[in-house]
Amino acid sequence: MSLRASLLALALGLAAFTVQAAEPIVIKFSHVVAPDTPKGRAADYFKKIAEERTKGAVKVEVYPNSQLYKDREEMEALQLGAVQMLAPSLAKFGPLGVRAFELFDLPYIFPNKETLYRVMDGDIGKKLFTLLEAKGIYGLAFWDNGFKQMSANKPIRTVEDFKGLKMRIQSSKVLEAQMKALGANPQVMAFSEVYSALQQGVVDGTENPMSNLYTQKMHEVQKHLTLSDHGYLGYAVIVNKAFWDGLPANIRTTLDKAMADTTVFERKIAQEENDEALAKVKAAGTTQIYTLPYKDRVVWQQALLPVHKEFEEKIGKDMIQAAYNVAAQVEKEKAAQAAAPAAKDKPGPAKAKPAAKPEKK
Ligand code: LMR
Repeated sequence: MSLRASLLALALGLAAFTVQAAEPIVIKFSHVVAPDTPKGRAADYFKKIAEERTKGAVKVEVYPNSQLYKDREEMEALQLGAVQMLAPSLAKFGPLGVRAFELFDLPYIFPNKETLYRVMDGDIGKKLFTLLEAKGIYGLAFWDNGFKQMSANKPIRTVEDFKGLKMRIQSSKVLEAQMKALGANPQVMAFSEVYSALQQGVVDGTENPMSNLYTQKMHEVQKHLTLSDHGYLGYAVIVNKAFWDGLPANIRTTLDKAMADTTVFERKIAQEENDEALAKVKAAGTTQIYTLPYKDRVVWQQALLPVHKEFEEKIGKDMIQAAYNVAAQVEKEKAAQAAAPAAKDKPGPAKAKPAAKPEKK
């Protein structure tokens, strides 16, 4: 081969290599909710900043609304590497065999968001993510949605009102026990099927934060809604571990930071999105909204507390106790804070705080 021919071949080879090297790393991010929810907006936000910060070296394809996979299927798809990123609700990790995640489903376990964030971001959250690794999954972040509300086609005010109601739940043994403790008949169903099941009367009611209820138009097929805040719905953002470990280190660092920033954004918008959704449901006028008064909330709590005990073994007694401890610590700090200005204004011992009422979130 002449020198000229060799150089040409080399140049062509280099060009082919450049084209190949320029191929972006694709992250398929599948989820089951609408784009205009806390999770949906955060997924789009992550796409934007991840693509910008990696200067196109990473392409994030977001597939909302169960477009690619439903709840159970998406977990399998992640493990098989058909998608690289998901943000399933925390209730969906039990069926994967990581029962400790069911901590988040325990009714009334988190008295406020502060407790919740400390649980997610502290030792408990870290331990939960470690447990995922044996499943080929790596946990990146915890995202928030909000506290769940009950809806049905009849008013639900007292525990007795649940008797015999068919209530759709996510696939969680704790949620099953929760509905049974209330006297209802739990029905496991994929999120994408809830609207039509409510419309056709396959189930009578369900539970979800307002953002999910509104964006799935459940209010159009639910005459009654009770603002009960009886349980929590959040997410774990997860990736296929082999995929994540195989990324170039600089890309992984950039994506990690993009995810941390997305998490700040997500937690900031979660409450706003839920407040807006509640206002829109009110404006739609299709659903009567009832706020569970404190005295009834205490009765609901009493009916539901045995569920904590029932799941001690599966979730881990230490896990549950650790969450109680975090709640107690937050309560203690709040009490100290509330007492501080009084102590400053008036010398002498700080006044005792009145008995805690459930907080408005
Ligand atoms: C549900 O299945 O009810 C929701 O948790 C879906 C979601 O991801 O918010």
